[in-house]
Amino acid sequence: MSNTNKPRPTIKAVRGTRDLLPDQTPLWNKVEATARAVFARYGFGEIRTPIFESTELFARGVGEETDIVSKEMFTWEDRARAASEKAQSLTLRPESTAGVVRAYIEHKLGETGQLQKLYYIGPQFRRERPQRGRYRQFWQIGAEVLGPQTSGSDSPLRDAEVLEMLASLLDELGIRDWKLELNSVGNTEDRARYNIALKEALAPVKHLMCPDNQRRAETNPLRVLDSKDEADQEIINALPKIADYLGPDSSSHFSQVLAALDACGVPYHLNPRLVRGLDYYTRTTFEFTVTTGLGTQNAMLGGGRYDGLSEMLGGPKAPGIGFAIGEDRLILTLQAQNEADIKAAQEAGAATGAGAPDLSHLEIGVPKLDAYIAPLGVAQNPAALKLARDLRAQGLTIEVGDGSFKIGKSFGFADAIARNIILLGEDEVASDTATVKTFATGEQVKIERSQISNRLKS
Ligand code: HAM
Repeated sequence: MSNTNKPRPTIKAVRGTRDLLPDQTPLWNKVEATARAVFARYGFGEIRTPIFESTELFARGVGEETDIVSKEMFTWEDRARAASEKAQSLTLRPESTAGVVRAYIEHKLGETGQLQKLYYIGPQFRRERPQRGRYRQFWQIGAEVLGPQTSGSDSPLRDAEVLEMLASLLDELGIRDWKLELNSVGNTEDRARYNIALKEALAPVKHLMCPDNQRRAETNPLRVLDSKDEADQEIINALPKIADYLGPDSSSHFSQVLAALDACGVPYHLNPRLVRGLDYYTRTTFEFTVTTGLGTQNAMLGGGRYDGLSEMLGGPKAPGIGFAIGEDRLILTLQAQNEADIKAAQEAGAATGAGAPDLSHLEIGVPKLDAYIAPLGVAQNPAALKLARDLRAQGLTIEVGDGSFKIGKSFGFADAIARNIILLGEDEVASDTATVKTFATGEQVKIERSQISNRLKS
């Protein structure tokens, strides 16, 4: 006999993933709508690439030695389903730049001769240690600008435009206290020279460092610079700085980026250690950090130039620059700012002895529905659904109850989610009318069915 009475264990969301419920998604949608509107003003079009790609793409694009590729990818061997198919190694995308550049190459977007300005919004996957602001499935809002050199894709103006757009977007979203940290990691030749200098400087001290850094010191010394290992920080801070190894081309490019930012009034801080955790970067690299809401995970977004990435993926020369905003972190920051504002407004109200301040402009959540229709008996259910259909067709937001509910329960449900309740009894159905009560004023009227939508809209 099967043991049907024993409760089954519940199944929870996987560690590092989370559900976004309807009281949270309005803010996400608002952020995404604002980003789309800003991107449109700068001539960006949306690109949607697959959530999984061949593992090789990230190994070659992001780099074998990076934390992302060496430890954090969700990779599996996808077996062949038919003799005509090959088994292949696939990976959930840990970032989208490699996929966007793959799509640029695959669809020969460079052959248009035009600068490509592409943006994306979507989930990314990294097997990181979960904590506030760090998840295994997280969302990014990102954009890439790339094209053949003749399209102006390697102009310092592109770098400055992307940074100025980000400053405008964060301002428009109401993010306060952002800080733009900026560096140049040079071109391939500058980096080759710098790598030699780093290796030399690391040789006498690397045995004092953690095993990861000892390995990186050999294979990819630049990665040592973004190590978070506490004990190694003193050694890392004393290493040579990339700024001293930039050739004339990279130096001139970087100073033109800074001059354009100065002209636009976008403030920045130079950070010589900002090499970023992905191998494809050349010349300009940047991060925007914030002080509210993120704790140690204070990088809200990051990006930079990747002039050689297309060639690394077998494509034509296509210099580019882009960024990705951590949407989860952006939302956490907005929520923390909002909480701080509410607290400050309450304290200010208390200090002046004024009544409770009106904080409605700070509320971010689910908007109330226009009306809740309460049929007063089961017999009125069909008429209630028909009325809901008519009102929704006119653009109103409506919920319908059930005639078996007690009237008190209907009022309770309605008050929680809607601005009005529409009562539909036997009389109302027979006389083509309805009783509408508005919660804010307490006013109750019996009106013609045809007048309801005007009343709800007023
Ligand atoms: P990234 O710095 O690896 O760059 O990620 C960009 C942003 O994504 C970070 O600043 C952070 O806000 C967010 N992020 C990263 N990992 C997590 C996580 N585990 N949980 C929550 N948020 C996270 C890139 O991904 C590059 N593709 C950016 C880029 C575009 N560079 C050029 N074009």
